Amino acid sequence: MMNYGFIGLGNMATAITCGMLRSGSFTDDKILGFDISSDCCRAAEANGVEIKKSAEDLADSSDVLVLAVKPQVAEGVYARIKDRVQGKLIISIAAGKTIEFLENGLGSDKLLVRVMPNINAMVGAATCAYTVNANVTDEHKKITEKIFGTIGTIDELPEKLFSVFTAIGGSSPAFAYIYIDALARAGVQHGMTKAQALKFAAATVMGSAKMVLESGVHPMELCDRVCSPAGTTIDGVMRLQAYGFEAAVHEAICAVVEKDKKL
Ligand SMILES: NC(=O)c1ccc[n+]([C@@H]2O[C@H](COP(=O)([O-])OP(=O)(O)OC[C@H]3O[C@@H](n4cnc5c(N)ncnc54)[C@H](OP(=O)(O)O)[C@@H]3O)[C@@H](O)[C@H]2O)c1
Repeated sequence: MMNYGFIGLGNMATAITCGMLRSGSFTDDKILGFDISSDCCRAAEANGVEIKKSAEDLADSSDVLVLAVKPQVAEGVYARIKDRVQGKLIISIAAGKTIEFLENGLGSDKLLVRVMPNINAMVGAATCAYTVNANVTDEHKKITEKIFGTIGTIDELPEKLFSVFTAIGGSSPAFAYIYIDALARAGVQHGMTKAQALKFAAATVMGSAKMVLESGVHPMELCDRVCSPAGTTIDGVMRLQAYGFEAAVHEAICAVVEKDKKL
């Protein structure tokens, strides 16, 4: 039996704890939490999280600690738990906080993992990446993968790729939402209700993603297969390209990577 503690019980911790509880893979374990907001504590308790009275108390009671507070308050939390987490696995999900930053705040002798989840965790479909410091073993990696596997996919990635992962895994859901809304808005222009058009657009994007992941066929080959000679789709594809669709996506990713590197 293991105790999994969450410091900060906001949006992301709620998604993760609910994913863990729903999965049935942690029935022998306890999920504990602490948040400065009593509303968040009450909501988490209602979901099945046992609430501790302070960050220190939570650190003492946990084998694995997930730091799920906003990056701006991370250092204050490190100072409170630093002397109580020797030998415990510490997982930070704070955007932009590197392993070096964690080692400076918590000590390079600690077991430290950095995970980048994304907002689709709310529906169990996050795309997560993680990186570790030198003290972390394969067993700790398995624990990390077990936790975050309950809210989507999780892959180990060298930290030097975290900026680009932040763009493709973290920010691109926003781009995908815009694309889905643009499809739906065009559907409305041509007579559909927005609700109808959104449902079709989102389901088609989800199906297309599944096709890319499961068929193993190159996306442009899939695109060619949809474009019959002198058909309708090829006209749409050529118009998208003429309006700089791919270049706009590349620019958007570059903008996120550049900003992330400056933070
Ligand atoms: N949301 C996302 O899509 C997403 C994606 C990737 C990574 N992340 C990372 O996940 C982390 C959490 O994000 P979130 O969206 O879940 O934020 P959130 O909803 O604001 O949750 C953070 C919670 O921590 C509480 N808190 C603040 N200081 C605390 C302290 N000293 N001790 C205990 N609890 C404290 C906050 O209370 P108050 O509100 O009262 O301050 C809030 O309830 C962030 O570091 C973020 O970078 C989030």
